Amino acid sequence: MQIRLNSPLDMHLHLRDEDMLKVVAPLSSKSFSGAIIMPNLVPPVTTKEELIAYKNRILEAIGDDNFTPYMTLFFKPTYTKEFLSSIRDELTAIKLYPAGITTNSEGGLSGFDINELRETLTAMSELNIPLCIHGETNGFVMDREAEFISIYEKLASNFPKLKIIMEHITTKESVEALDKFDNLYATITLHHLLITLDDVAGGMLEPHLFCKPIAKRPEDREALREVAFSAHPKVMFGSDSAPHPQHTKEATHCSAGVFTSPIALQVLTELFLEHSSLEKLQAFVSDNAQKIYSNIEVPKKVVILEKKGFKVPMKYGEVVPMYAGEKLKYSILF
Ligand code: NCD
Ligand code: ZN
Repeated sequence: MQIRLNSPLDMHLHLRDEDMLKVVAPLSSKSFSGAIIMPNLVPPVTTKEELIAYKNRILEAIGDDNFTPYMTLFFKPTYTKEFLSSIRDELTAIKLYPAGITTNSEGGLSGFDINELRETLTAMSELNIPLCIHGETNGFVMDREAEFISIYEKLASNFPKLKIIMEHITTKESVEALDKFDNLYATITLHHLLITLDDVAGGMLEPHLFCKPIAKRPEDREALREVAFSAHPKVMFGSDSAPHPQHTKEATHCSAGVFTSPIALQVLTELFLEHSSLEKLQAFVSDNAQKIYSNIEVPKKVVILEKKGFKVPMKYGEVVPMYAGEKLKYSILF
């Protein structure tokens, strides 16, 4: 049996830079048509020059692969309409991080005063630039995402023309928020469809499954599965594949991030099949995203998956992928 996917997209991806970029970028560009590239480099991407230079380094790392990196800026409340207009053609979205909430987010936002954000968010609405948000407060770790819902609601109601993407949602509260405002959308990762906090910390600690936001309860995973397996039109796949070298994962102060890009389509296929939802996978991994991000051009690529075992390598460069050493049921026909 063969399964064909047309132009799969990863709407939330960390490619890093330098040697790491050279290792991980081809692992996405071989099987995806494009990806939203997160700007949390050190320092983060905040200028036109940095954005174009980073895009060029990505293009160099992927060689001849037919893949578009959709570039993002790291949100600053100082971006003016003039600046955003000047970068509009190079830019697909802007990513907002609360300060210090996750990897390389120290320069993020420390408050959500609408008046302080008004100029930039109005400009983004007028220029049709989506706002991607890492929606967590700095409250108790299990409650951070649910506590952030009120901020999503404040932003969505004050800027009704602004497309707001709730990135990597992990809770049933976020799923419920989706239908409350026309301009709220969400990405869902592979790992949050698969695991709960038990898989991370219920037995021996599993650092390669530790990420932000942390995986939650079975009922949260169920809510995510429901909207993913039905390809709810406001959700799209975003892997949040976030590579870190093995020595920073298997360590005190383990870095947050799960590396899934080389296994994502194979495991999604297996999961959607298992839940009798295969006919929804195309919408979840591409069509919904193309409608939500109405301004992107998507390279044509047909990815064929076949029922043939794929042994996941123990490492890609210095990075340990999810399911390292295990055998998956589906592989990509390259
Ligand atoms: C991401 C990273 O490592 O850049 N980590 C993660 O746990 N997801 C940042 C992020 O998306 O939060
Ligand atoms: Zn991320």
